[in-house]
Amino acid sequence: MRTLLIAGNWKMNPPTRAEAVALAQEVKAGVGTAVDVHVVVCPPSVFLQAVDSVLEGSPIGMGGQDMHAQSGGAYTGEVAGAMLVDSGCTHVILGHSERRHGMGETDAMVNAKLKSALASRLIPIVCIGETKDERLGDRTEAVLDEQLAGSLAGLSPEEMAGTVLAYEPVWAIGTGLTATPEQAQAAHAHIRKRLAEAFGEATAARVVVQYGGSVKPDNAAELLACPDIDGALVGGASLKAADFLAIVAAGRQVSAR
Ligand code: 13P
Repeated sequence: MRTLLIAGNWKMNPPTRAEAVALAQEVKAGVGTAVDVHVVVCPPSVFLQAVDSVLEGSPIGMGGQDMHAQSGGAYTGEVAGAMLVDSGCTHVILGHSERRHGMGETDAMVNAKLKSALASRLIPIVCIGETKDERLGDRTEAVLDEQLAGSLAGLSPEEMAGTVLAYEPVWAIGTGLTATPEQAQAAHAHIRKRLAEAFGEATAARVVVQYGGSVKPDNAAELLACPDIDGALVGGASLKAADFLAIVAAGRQVSAR
């Protein structure tokens, strides 16, 4: 009942608009018109409009990588949700670990951005996940609980159902270390249990929970086959169209089962 969502987080890549356009063109050609799996690309904000032009006529969505909680004003360097929408965005990534750990983003900040994104009619992709030390200290579930409670505070069940979560263990991001399907499924099942407690079973059953952290063509199928894993948030492998398309193809195979 949940359609898989495969999203490419391009982070601060590629270096030029021409390369961003070329990557988007390759992804568009590979995805075609199929909608059995939802596909989204998240380019750097300065390339959004160029990528949006490329994606015209394609079912591929486009996401920002962050946004400000305010709708406008004196916030140098920031981008508002309505600006992302005006640039063609359907989605926005919020609370990525590179912002939480690299730029001090808190659950309260993520929560404010989330409410602003929903008000702008963007589909938020809220990232959560534990560090290596937290996992080794057996604190994974406690960390997820804290991030879920703080980031999702005050949402209605309907708003929750329209929000995507991405479980991204920090130790698996950009390291080549992937959570095993068992580790990932256990974390996802825990997340869905907490969603059921907070928002009800029916809502929890509707929430798309992606896995992120070194998803590659050779590990995508076994991760996506897990019952509570509803897609992938792909970093490095989303910068090579062939790799990203292979992950989309793995999603299609799993969905067809
Ligand atoms: P990698 O796929 O490069 O590990 O990045 C994952 C990620 O951070 C996606 O948001």
